[in-house]
Amino acid sequence: MTADTEGSLQVTDPRTGRTYQLPIHEGAIRATDLRQVKVSDDDFGLMSYDPAFMNTASCRSAITYIDGEKGILRYRGYPIEELAESSSFLEVAYLLLNGELPDKAQADEWAEEVTNHTFVHENVKKFIDGFHHDAHPMGILVSTIAALSTFYPESKEITNDALRHHQVVRMIAKMPTLAAFAYRHAKGFPYAYPDDDLSYTGNFLNMMFKMTELKYHPEPVLERALDVLFILHADHEQNCSANVMRAVGSAHSDPYMAAAAAAAALYGPLHGGANEQVLKMLNEIGSVERVPEYVARVKRGELRLMGFGHRVYKNFDPRAKIIKKIADEVFEVTGRNHLLDIALELERVALGDEYFVHHKLYPNVDFYSGIIYQAMGFPVTMFPVLFAIGRVPGWLAQWEEGILDPEQKISRPRQLYVGAGLRHLSAGSTGGPK
Ligand code: SDX
Repeated sequence: MTADTEGSLQVTDPRTGRTYQLPIHEGAIRATDLRQVKVSDDDFGLMSYDPAFMNTASCRSAITYIDGEKGILRYRGYPIEELAESSSFLEVAYLLLNGELPDKAQADEWAEEVTNHTFVHENVKKFIDGFHHDAHPMGILVSTIAALSTFYPESKEITNDALRHHQVVRMIAKMPTLAAFAYRHAKGFPYAYPDDDLSYTGNFLNMMFKMTELKYHPEPVLERALDVLFILHADHEQNCSANVMRAVGSAHSDPYMAAAAAAAALYGPLHGGANEQVLKMLNEIGSVERVPEYVARVKRGELRLMGFGHRVYKNFDPRAKIIKKIADEVFEVTGRNHLLDIALELERVALGDEYFVHHKLYPNVDFYSGIIYQAMGFPVTMFPVLFAIGRVPGWLAQWEEGILDPEQKISRPRQLYVGAGLRHLSAGSTGGPK
């Protein structure tokens, strides 16, 4: 343990009366220090038991800082509010990956690198076409991210800096293309190819919505609003999908396989799939008048208020505050969405109700984002896909930090075994209990 520990935790094992000093460092004790606490020499020693990692730090990270009580979110030290106000999504992606915001020359070079990699191999279209017309785009996205691994076998060289950087650029560049292709397939529209004249987000809108016009011109307010939404989704420290990205990366799989697994986790309705569930919930409520009845069902424990609550934020999700502001700007262009009225009433009722205050349930990043996406013309099934596009730089930054961390090795938790003790098959048995 290094010299700057914050003293030690003194523990006495009542089983043996022995006392131990567990060094405290950076506000934590090392779980492996518990192994010295034994009742006999052949005892394995104590473990820490922490289902869902409610209180376990899996890594040391310099990427994102969150203070759940104060509603603080910073990427590499910069407050999310400032980045949302002044940076582009590509600049924030650069920041997450490199630790510093790019200067003008670096930003231009980075944007050009990404722009030059937006195309996917033509064969990708062949297996997208193999999906059923109503295949959920997240199923297509997870599959096509994994498929990129087969086009770039050199991506397995994860210790080669140049090759690692090349895959990072490719994945950030191709996510919008894969996402848009999944949408166009579902709609039965021809694929719209990347337009290098447009910004990262403008090009995504182009590939999504270009029809017969010779050149697609994104609506500037919507282009900026979506770019900010991507910024707000870019990383969130050790969330479920980032944990998956690190765990798969710890086995030294290539980054496409790790990202496909992370996207699969993100798809879960408790995680990035929540924005899709929020829209279904608002449509099920149907009117402002029916909000109290729905809230009563939530309080009876019959169902969860999707878009509310968070493992870390126990006051407010700073991203939700910014997204709510974006909603007003978007609806200026698209016209007001009646679901916003239901969402605002739901928030008003919930925040004034003891149940939600007691359970520390406040709107999270998913509560308002879905309404904005719908107003922009995205179908509900595309909402988690949009979350994934934004989250890719964070996944890649977490993945790279994990594989370069000398303290890390293959993720392999232990367990508390509660199953059957030793038992034998009865003589001549064909298996199965007699
Ligand atoms: C994201 O980790 C991240 O950073 C995630 C994310 C990111 O950027 O990566 O921020 C993105 O995933 C946001 C969360 C999106 N999910 C939802 O909106 C789904 C609805 N919310 C939840 O299911 C829940 O709040 C979680 C999953 C977000 C957090 O769950 P926790 O911290 O594990 O809390 P819990 O499930 O143990 O619930 C604690 C209590 C329970 O009540 P009791 O059993 O103790 O009586 O609060 C209740 C829960 O029933 N509760 C809710 C609720 N969320 C928790 N009750 C009603 N509605 C809800 N939304």
